[in-house]
Amino acid sequence: MSPPPDHAIVIENLCKTYRSRDGKERPPALKSVSFTVPRGSMFALLGPNGAGKSTLINVMAGLVVKSSGRVSIWGHDLDDDPRQARRAIGIVPQELNLDPFFSPRETLEVQAGYYGIPKAERRTDEILEAVGLADKATAYARTLSGGMRRRLLIAKAMVHNPQILVLDEPTAGVDVELRRHLWETIREMNAHGRTILLTTHYLEEAQDNCESIAILRHGALVACESREGLLARLTDKVVEVRFAAPLAGIPPALAAFAPVASGADRLAFRVTRGDGGVPALLNALPNCGLAVADISTTEPDLEEVFLRLTREDTERP
Ligand SMILES: Nc1ncnc2c1ncn2[C@@H]1O[C@H](COP(=O)(O)OP(=O)(O)O)[C@@H](O)[C@H]1O
Ligand SMILES: [Mg+2]
Repeated sequence: MSPPPDHAIVIENLCKTYRSRDGKERPPALKSVSFTVPRGSMFALLGPNGAGKSTLINVMAGLVVKSSGRVSIWGHDLDDDPRQARRAIGIVPQELNLDPFFSPRETLEVQAGYYGIPKAERRTDEILEAVGLADKATAYARTLSGGMRRRLLIAKAMVHNPQILVLDEPTAGVDVELRRHLWETIREMNAHGRTILLTTHYLEEAQDNCESIAILRHGALVACESREGLLARLTDKVVEVRFAAPLAGIPPALAAFAPVASGADRLAFRVTRGDGGVPALLNALPNCGLAVADISTTEPDLEEVFLRLTREDTERP
């Protein structure tokens, strides 16, 4: 057997342009997207609605035909070796497409049959246990809650024991409690060595759970790096100073710091982290002739990176 690849997924110059019913080309949904997902990682593909996330996932799933580019899954080219590529990946689609009259156990058994897995090698009950559906094994799918259906879809994607699990918006429309449970399930699978690629438009979920993050915007990749790398892109932080009395104007001693009034009695300063900006400001404050009541600082988070990278008023494609 060949050794496992360093990259679970390699995407190179992937392009997709859909056609409308009358055959006209629509604006491109994917524009020469390239990135790699390291083996064993927990990787988030982030982007606002319509950014192209599902299109990318559906190309991997064989549901959408790409216009051009190359996709390699576990070392198997999707065009040259589609069967091997599909074997290595389990995909949980965004839509909850389950047969309502099948129980979770039947759903997994049918899927195992589809993959030609002999009865003796099936792990149906083990998988149901892993996603927390063991006690619902024989219930009709239509009686399951939204969160349970989502977990059943994850179970279905796990039937052929793929190296890679891909989840398209796994937590969309799921309540807080179930969301936490879903994340536990996903993290557990990652801890067992499985590579996870997931899409989400919930930023804080990517920030909390994923070490690598790619950001799509209008079909183009605008960032792809470690969570720490993304956060380090933000070199500013905001220092807010509240004074003991309302201000008549910006004190001359502070004018060089270009503050903006953030309230009648307060000023906000954007300073560069780590280059002496904060000490310089603190040294200047006693010279402004006003009593300081409070100081607070705000560290940037991924939301700010995301907003900057996806903001509509930057250049459009
Ligand atoms: N089957 C389709 N036919 C035509 N256009 C589509 C189809 N699926 C998606 N699109 C378009 O492609 C773009 C990307 O959509 P999608 O991949 O669903 O984004 P996301 O999953 O990030 O919300 C959107 O403009 C969407 O309208
Ligand atoms: Mg989508």
